[in-house]
Amino acid sequence: SSKKETINIGFSQCLSDDEWRIVMNSEIFTEADLINDRDVNIIYRTAHGDNEVQIQQIKELMEQPIDLLIVSPNEAAPLTDIVSRVYKMGIPVIVVDRNINSSDFTSFIGGNNLDVGITAGTIALNMLSEKNKDSARILQITGLPGSSPAEQRFNGFLQSVRNNSSHGVDVLNADWHEETAYYKLDSLYRERTEGYDLIFAHNDEMAHAAYRVTRNFDMDAMIIGVDGLITERGGVPMILDNKIDATISYPTGGDIAVRTALNILDGREVDKYNYLNTFPVDSRNAETLYYEGIRLQNQKEKLRELIGRYDHLYLNVERKNVLIFVFSVF
Ligand code: FRU
Repeated sequence: SSKKETINIGFSQCLSDDEWRIVMNSEIFTEADLINDRDVNIIYRTAHGDNEVQIQQIKELMEQPIDLLIVSPNEAAPLTDIVSRVYKMGIPVIVVDRNINSSDFTSFIGGNNLDVGITAGTIALNMLSEKNKDSARILQITGLPGSSPAEQRFNGFLQSVRNNSSHGVDVLNADWHEETAYYKLDSLYRERTEGYDLIFAHNDEMAHAAYRVTRNFDMDAMIIGVDGLITERGGVPMILDNKIDATISYPTGGDIAVRTALNILDGREVDKYNYLNTFPVDSRNAETLYYEGIRLQNQKEKLRELIGRYDHLYLNVERKNVLIFVFSVF
């Protein structure tokens, strides 16, 4: 109703064209819709992976004005200054998934990416020892090096492999993108006489590229990705189709970001660091995860429909009140 207070939340997203970001965005918008006692207005901007564009968009959001900023920074170093400026102006800031290089924010929400890398390393070593490989060739396909998840996944993986084995680890940067990974890995394989035994890609998109290239060259490799979505092109269906061997489920945190935003605006204490649960997925749990995920999705759709009906009813009640009011005047 018109008496409801409006909250303006600026949401600066670094990318918009991959499934994982689409899931995050939809979680944010759904959660905002569910809030009933206030109108939560999400002012969304996406920078298409461009630091300068994202800086500009945050400046524009500040002029709206906004009550709070949710930001997933493209790269840490270039975005640190502007995010810190927003925070120092007294606007609460929630940083999601990718971090900045300072602690000038109210709350961070995301997976612990050092853990993600370490977990990937543990899975890799288990897989290699099952195949009795003692000097394996391993490749990491990294995300955008200036983004904090890429840096932390890289370090975690290297640390875990180096501390527990003597395998060599090569690196190929593909900036998080499937086609970049495909193109670069294809060129690499053209030069090599041997393939890799194991490839750890920093996300499932790039893991899919690794699957395509190793299949084309007929040089089978064990492949590990990150994200573990159940969407059509997600990591979980890829495990079920035997395209990749494992992934690490990495939640987007969109819904939690909105709930945290309301807690902050209501003056409640929130934790500075909120690490979301990440866990390994392979052929042993992929099917369960998939069907449970589908079941949850169906329930969500039903819930959406119910909300729709309720909104409809609510509108009618409002209209009826208006009509009664109009009639009572005449
Ligand atoms: C999507 C993505 C995910 C990855 C995350 C890291 O844009 O590349 O695949 O887990 O961003 O920030």
